Amino acid sequence: MEEKILILDFGGQYNQLIARRVREQNVYCEIKPYTTSMDDIRAFAPMGIIFTGGPNSVYLEDSAHVDPAVFELGVPILGICYGCQLMAYTLGGEVTAAQADTAREYGKTVTYYNTNCKLFKDVPEQAISWMSHGDYMAKVPEGFELVAHTDACPNAAIADERRGFYGVQYHPEVDHTQFGTQMLRNFLYEICGAKGTWTMEDFCQRTVAQLRQTIGPKGRVLLALSGGVDSSVLAALLAEAVGDRLTAVFVDHGCMRKNEGDEVEAAFAKWKIHFVRVDAEKRFLDKLKGVEDPQRKRQIIGAEFGYVFLDEAMKFGITKEDFFAQGTIYPDVIESGAGDADVIKSHHNRLLPKEVIAQFKSVLEPLDHLFKDEIRLLGKELGLPDYLVHRQPFPGPGLAIRILGDVTKEKLDILREADAIFREEITKANLGDMCSQYFAVLTNARSVGVMGDGRTYENVLALRSVTTKDFMTAEWTRIPYEVLDRASVRIVNEVPHINRIVYDITSKPPATVEWE
Ligand code: XMP
Repeated sequence: MEEKILILDFGGQYNQLIARRVREQNVYCEIKPYTTSMDDIRAFAPMGIIFTGGPNSVYLEDSAHVDPAVFELGVPILGICYGCQLMAYTLGGEVTAAQADTAREYGKTVTYYNTNCKLFKDVPEQAISWMSHGDYMAKVPEGFELVAHTDACPNAAIADERRGFYGVQYHPEVDHTQFGTQMLRNFLYEICGAKGTWTMEDFCQRTVAQLRQTIGPKGRVLLALSGGVDSSVLAALLAEAVGDRLTAVFVDHGCMRKNEGDEVEAAFAKWKIHFVRVDAEKRFLDKLKGVEDPQRKRQIIGAEFGYVFLDEAMKFGITKEDFFAQGTIYPDVIESGAGDADVIKSHHNRLLPKEVIAQFKSVLEPLDHLFKDEIRLLGKELGLPDYLVHRQPFPGPGLAIRILGDVTKEKLDILREADAIFREEITKANLGDMCSQYFAVLTNARSVGVMGDGRTYENVLALRSVTTKDFMTAEWTRIPYEVLDRASVRIVNEVPHINRIVYDITSKPPATVEWE
């Protein structure tokens, strides 16, 4: 894989989005921290570099800076927002705080482009861009031209085409910037000279070959299969690579959705792998008894998962020739490694205790540089059924974090039934594309109702659906009332102990997708 773009991360909020946009153009890229050494950058050998946005001002002493040697590498550089100001500042320009009446800009802004600039090939002379900067480039460095402006700001984009340096004050990676994708594509194809060699077919073939080589002719692989998209795709990839030397251990912690285990098992019937289904409901529910705190629930489930898995591995008779595989994906890696961002919920995949991992020759995480949408493409490439590949995400701790308060088998059964009805109604109404993730939540609140002639005092169930691409931000889905009505009527009629349904109408932020 020769074509690589380096995304130097200065702590902006859209960094993963930039990487996804680049990959969508069939060019491989990696995000690395701005502190990456020049030696490492050279070793990575990027064909171009993108500086991301960042929260600070470049003229402050403790802001993220960059080794000026990066400009001597002879590869094109695109600076976005903070990255643009940093480029200007490092190359001898001047950046100051914008005065109120000059060029501080936030939000959608009419922008005028010089379409002779390579960055703006096939971009109209005027379009909307998404601005988010409080600083202003008072003086641009020598050799740079102004190639875009807005009514408030003369240098919305700058370029030194001779050296291949480009800077934009707006965010081309967000959907609000019209033609932003075209600009990124221009950077990759017109400026860096990319050909677009990053495809899933290619990745799939290369990874299967690499896995065969790493695992060797005799090595066996034990995979922790949760039934989610990531671990399912990984199972298919490993099945392709080593066939019956793969054992997929599906641990049913008792907090799965209705029919989950059967569906997952059925999907793997076409490969000759060993599928081990462990019914560990009792073990998990015993550990969860009386636990109300959401993070505690996550920790308990994560650790117990490790111990169940270890027991299975022992039964299996692992040797030092065997491997452990898990479906870690790129956002897990970025989110656990970034250090700066607040940990809102511990999502990452690295559940297993060290002593478990130590039993194996090594850990295989071949998907750890792929984004979710790439994982789905890979799943398709491998021939996984659509219902698995396009599954909505399901959190590792499962329904345990959709039952507020303590978790019991009785509550799980109630929630499972209600959730299944809601999902069925969404599917029947063909709303799967609009609803990126949808589920029911048992709220731990009770309310009075009347059924038949009698008073009831039963559970309040919440329905939740969000529309999102990346799950980092999300809109609550405007599900048609008739569909909500059908789900509500059916749930109250068919599921005992629920007498009231509410629909969650908060987006993320300020809420999160899950209630816990
Ligand atoms: P939140 O609730 O943070 O969810 O907005 C964003 C996405 O992450 C999923 N999620 C989890 N996934 N373990 C997981 O594997 C977890 O503990 C966890 N918590 C949230 C959530 O379902 C949504 O897709």
